[in-house]
Amino acid sequence: MAATPFLSAVSRRLEGKVAVITGAASGIGECTARLFARHGAKVIIADIQDDLGQSICKDIGSSNATYVHCDVTNETHVQNAVDKAVATHGKLDIMFNNAGIGDGPKPRIIDNEKSDFERVLDVNLTGVFLGMKHAARVMIPARSGSIISTASVTSRIGGGASHAYTCSKHGVWGLTKNVAVELGQFGIRVNCLSPYGVVTPLLRKFGVPGNDEELENLVSSLGNLKGVSLKAQDVAHAAAYLASDESRYVSGHNLFIDGGYTIVNPSLNLFQYPDS
Ligand SMILES: NC(=O)c1ccc[n+]([C@@H]2O[C@H](COP(=O)([O-])OP(=O)(O)OC[C@H]3O[C@@H](n4cnc5c(N)ncnc54)[C@H](O)[C@@H]3O)[C@@H](O)[C@H]2O)c1
Repeated sequence: MAATPFLSAVSRRLEGKVAVITGAASGIGECTARLFARHGAKVIIADIQDDLGQSICKDIGSSNATYVHCDVTNETHVQNAVDKAVATHGKLDIMFNNAGIGDGPKPRIIDNEKSDFERVLDVNLTGVFLGMKHAARVMIPARSGSIISTASVTSRIGGGASHAYTCSKHGVWGLTKNVAVELGQFGIRVNCLSPYGVVTPLLRKFGVPGNDEELENLVSSLGNLKGVSLKAQDVAHAAAYLASDESRYVSGHNLFIDGGYTIVNPSLNLFQYPDS
């Protein structure tokens, strides 16, 4: 049976939209690029892993995905990625500032090198700032757009990652609020996503031993919501919501995809069922 217009609108939630996704050659970004394309968006995959990025574009299909080499710490690269979207598709509806790097385990602040601290801030925070800035440059004249960035549960809690990583993600949330206030007058929405742990190459860099399955089991055992483990797909679905018109009045929001991890103090242990 042919799909009704209503059903096709629901199933292709980003039809006609144009998105730039940084860090889309791997993990959460890759999964989001594939999902956005399935929902009808044209995606620009912006990353530094050229071979991976190009092969994902090929897989998605060259009419729906374009690769651009973009180091998010380089303003000219970010400017080019945004300009590529406009030159190819005439506009930019969605900017997903997702590129990020992890940081090795550094239990003591005295073991943290200034250069390491600055490198993490440069990619995870300055990169997001540049993405927001250049998205705003083309979205303000169009008086519409959705800017999404990937923060983390470490945008809310302390002790979840290195000092640099935690600062960078607190910074992403701060920037999201500030830019949402500024760009609201132009009808541009600005939000961020805060996932709990997802097994990706980045999570591996936190130095937890074991294979992917062991790591996923460990991460889910430490979570609040039992019987489920967070996948890149879950974060991509949240991004699709913030990118779509279904969230048309949602701005300045930090959407936690964490199964309640950041709102519980486990030391209270108040709701322990005897047989659980
Ligand atoms: N995996 C997790 O548990 C988790 C949890 C919360 C937040 N995050 C955040 O999600 C985002 C995506 O991470 P992921 O887990 O998918 O990791 P990932 O390593 O699979 O993907 C990160 C991508 O960013 C790219 N990248 C790194 N530096 C870049 C730069 N300078 N310029 C452009 N691209 C660059 C990498 O090449 C890679 O393709 C990051 O911002 C990360 O901090 C991840």
